[in-house]
Amino acid sequence: MIPLCTPYIRNQEWQRIKDCVDTEWVSYAGKYVEQFELDLASFAGAEHAAVTISGTSALHIALICAGVRLDDEVILPALSFVAPANAIRYQGAWPTFIDVSVTDWQMDVEQLETFLTSSCQRNAEGELINIKTGRRVAAIMPVHLLGGMAHLDELVRLAHIYQLPLIEDAAESLGAHWKGKGIGARLDNQPDITRITCTSFNGNKIMTTGGGGALFTNCEKTALLAKHLCTTAKTDAIEFDHDQVGYNYRMNNIAAALGIGQLEQLDYFLKRKKEIGERYTNAFSSQRGIVATLPTGQHVTNSYWLYTILLESNSRSLLKHLTQNGIQTRPLWKALCDLSYLDQCHVHSATNARHLVNNSLSIPSSVGLADTDQDKVIHCIQSYLGC
Ligand SMILES: Cc1ncc(COP(=O)(O)O)c(C=O)c1O
Repeated sequence: MIPLCTPYIRNQEWQRIKDCVDTEWVSYAGKYVEQFELDLASFAGAEHAAVTISGTSALHIALICAGVRLDDEVILPALSFVAPANAIRYQGAWPTFIDVSVTDWQMDVEQLETFLTSSCQRNAEGELINIKTGRRVAAIMPVHLLGGMAHLDELVRLAHIYQLPLIEDAAESLGAHWKGKGIGARLDNQPDITRITCTSFNGNKIMTTGGGGALFTNCEKTALLAKHLCTTAKTDAIEFDHDQVGYNYRMNNIAAALGIGQLEQLDYFLKRKKEIGERYTNAFSSQRGIVATLPTGQHVTNSYWLYTILLESNSRSLLKHLTQNGIQTRPLWKALCDLSYLDQCHVHSATNARHLVNNSLSIPSSVGLADTDQDKVIHCIQSYLGC
């Protein structure tokens, strides 16, 4: 089977992992945890990073740091893996869905603006309220999908106008850039807003720690609060005093040791992903039956995390054909507003998300994908769709 997206782990990681085991520093107090945070912040161009046990836990902590509370609403794209919706529900808050754009498949910032201007109003306390549900709109959470990025300038502008925290889910887009700035880096002329960016190091991501995630911020107070919440909110090094509900979310030393070794190779991973992506684009740009290949928005340097094609018709028969030929593929995620446990949520729009779900197919994109295997994927798709 040619797998969809597997990690690339070679000898470089081993020495530090062995050191954790040999010295018995396996938990989160080990030296690699802080070193990994410093290395990550420096790679991303952000002032601070806090590492966690997963991308989902990083999102949960970001929501708490941004002040999202019970029965608030958080604006989320209708198309995403389910994790950010779960993180919102962990807080007892509700996702409110905005469609993705047909051009770049990312959160549609025009729809977002329409929602904020036409469907929300301020109450006497100055809070932004969704007129239909009566709930407080507490944050905007764009998801930078598939290695691309949503329109960051517009998101920052709207977050500033409406005084909403911007929590970016960049689980899939570590290594992507907006106008030359990495995820989590402060933009040129960025206004004063709360902005927290999260990523994931799950095994299928561009680099891995087995399971893990990180939160980036340019605010020291937020970074300290995030680390405090991730370590059970303990206030004293000796006494067991805790000042609020805390979480056991901090990454352990073994995972961080793996992460440092992976981060050292990230430039190579990005180079390979780009080569794989461009090879697919060349092969499929005028292919009958394929209406679009992974888009790259203006100002975005894509990390090509997971190459995805959009077919003229439903993608499931091609998926079956590829499976029979030993090639693993996946459709994009079901529109979040169509998940039964989220059917109470406010949906501003979701037409494009639903269309992408039906007709899309993500195809093998591992860093270690051999050219011969990629050729097999390309030929199998081309022969199925015809010239
Ligand atoms: C968009 C998105 N957000 C969040 C996550 C959650 O990350 P994790 O699996 O590390 O919790 C993922 C993937 O796993 C994702 O694709």
